Amino acid sequence: MKKLEDYVRSIPDFPEPGIIFRDVTSILQDADGLQLAVDSLRAMVKELDYDVVVGPESRGFIFGVPVAYAEHKSFVPVRKKGKLPCETISAEYELEYGTAEIEIHKDAIRPGQKVVIVDDLIATGGTTEAIIKLVEELGGQVVKICFVMELAGLKGREKLKDYAVDSAIVYE
Ligand code: PRP
Ligand code: ADE
Repeated sequence: MKKLEDYVRSIPDFPEPGIIFRDVTSILQDADGLQLAVDSLRAMVKELDYDVVVGPESRGFIFGVPVAYAEHKSFVPVRKKGKLPCETISAEYELEYGTAEIEIHKDAIRPGQKVVIVDDLIATGGTTEAIIKLVEELGGQVVKICFVMELAGLKGREKLKDYAVDSAIVYE
């Protein structure tokens, strides 16, 4: 029986020299891999009391929506700048390679709502830190953060030490 990590293809020097890219498409293109990944995330939130799954564009959508659907929760997308049509708040952050800005609709989370953040991967933790900032600015409470993969060497968890964090696969 294959484990989730067996479905991950690793590509050296993509998109830049020195980066080992952990490719999520190799999980998705196998029905068992996809099911294992979504079920691993679902197991992380099974006992939790929460209202909303929040996931960032674009790989966070791939895993956030099936978790929200299966657990009968709503899903709130965090998008790259300029994509959301209504009033937004935004946050800038640094990535393992480059910088970016993300946005959330102002009315997407109501004060007091409990939020689970789902993404495919944590590298530096910059994306997640920016999502937390957006959620908290709207009055939401982040109760758990779930990843399929964690690149532990980049120490992203250190940015999230006040939060409950879980990853299905950890790369040292
Ligand atoms: C990737 C990945 C995470 C983030 C992790 O997204 O899906 O969201 O980087 O990096 P960090 O922990 O250093 O912030 P990316 O911004 O590359 O966008 P994509 O999902 O559209 O490929
Ligand atoms: N996002 C940021 N760093 C990454 C990596 N090393 N592999 C896949 N996605 C990433």
